[in-house]
Amino acid sequence: MCLSIITLAILASHQVQAHYLFGHLIVNGTKSKPFQYVRDVTANETYDHDAEFGRQYPLFGHDLDSTNFTCGRDAIKFAQKTATATIIAGTEVGLRVIPKAKPWLPNIYNDTIFHDGPANVYLAKPPSGVALESWAGDDGEWFKIAGFGAINSTKWVIDHQEGFYPYTQFYVNCAHVNIIGPGGGMPSTFARFPGAYNYTEIDERMNRQGWLEDHTKFTGIGPSVWTG
Ligand SMILES: *[C@@H]1O[C@H](CO)[C@@H](O)[C@H](O)[C@H]1NC(C)=O
Ligand SMILES: *[C@@H]1O[C@H](CO)[C@@H](O)[C@H](O)[C@H]1NC(C)=O
Ligand SMILES: *[C@@H]1O[C@H](CO)[C@@H](O)[C@H](O)[C@H]1NC(C)=O
Ligand SMILES: *[C@@H]1O[C@H](CO)[C@@H](O)[C@H](O)[C@H]1NC(C)=O
Ligand SMILES: *[C@@H]1O[C@H](CO)[C@@H](O)[C@H](O)[C@H]1NC(C)=O
Ligand SMILES: *[C@@H]1O[C@H](CO)[C@@H](O)[C@H](O)[C@H]1NC(C)=O
Repeated sequence: MCLSIITLAILASHQVQAHYLFGHLIVNGTKSKPFQYVRDVTANETYDHDAEFGRQYPLFGHDLDSTNFTCGRDAIKFAQKTATATIIAGTEVGLRVIPKAKPWLPNIYNDTIFHDGPANVYLAKPPSGVALESWAGDDGEWFKIAGFGAINSTKWVIDHQEGFYPYTQFYVNCAHVNIIGPGGGMPSTFARFPGAYNYTEIDERMNRQGWLEDHTKFTGIGPSVWTG
């Protein structure tokens, strides 16, 4: 069985000079090489003179209805170059950011998520007969396997440098995984990417309630987590 992971970090931040990509897949504590199992992305065309910054550039509201929102900008172009990690069901997996885009940025911004906010992790498998390496994922039935929200009114679970920035940003990447094991159970609530998220609604809840009033008021987006 082939499955794909998507992570969506809905983040509002004070830092606009540099961003990040979840380029490393972590399986049972071992960090893979950057983009070994994660689909790479292209630079935003406005910043293509600065390839690293352009690649790490976030997605914004206008991208929510684009196929770029499924796995990151033009990620399907890198699918053939992406290896598939074999994972035993029940193994702990994670995604980690790659080092900072700008050498001159303070090291506090290196190798870390510094735009904090909620994050969600989803899985989907390609339709039968379609190889993972040629699947864009935009027709996928994505089910949520993890969600990270607020610890309390002022702190997100995913939090490094807290600060308010008035536009919600999205950081999306996909990894190729082949999960093996006895399995069991069937997820029942799915989302489509693009399609599942309503930017007006998210931005309103995120900025007005989630950030400025109380982080715990941002109660999450998309389906609830499937626990197996
Ligand atoms: C995806 O992003 C690339 C790079 O910014 C852009 O050229 C392309 O038009 C976008 N695709 C869609 C469907 O918006
Ligand atoms: C690239 O970035 C510019 C500047 O922020 C933005 O206006 C444009 O919509 C982005 N392009 C895509 C395809 O997201
Ligand atoms: C994960 O790593 C631990 C420690 O190296 C090992 O004992 C365990 O068997 C591994 N689990 C899987 C599912 O690979
Ligand atoms: C940034 O982090 C990476 C990964 O931890 C490390 O290899 C690199 O040396 C760091 N860069 C700087 C300038 O400290
Ligand atoms: C929220 O949690 C953080 C970390 O545990 C703590 O430092 C902070 O004081 C808490 N804030 C409130 C308002 O309880
Ligand atoms: C998105 O959310 C806004 C604000 O809640 C609502 O007015 C609008 O109808 C929603 N759009 C869709 C397509 O559901």
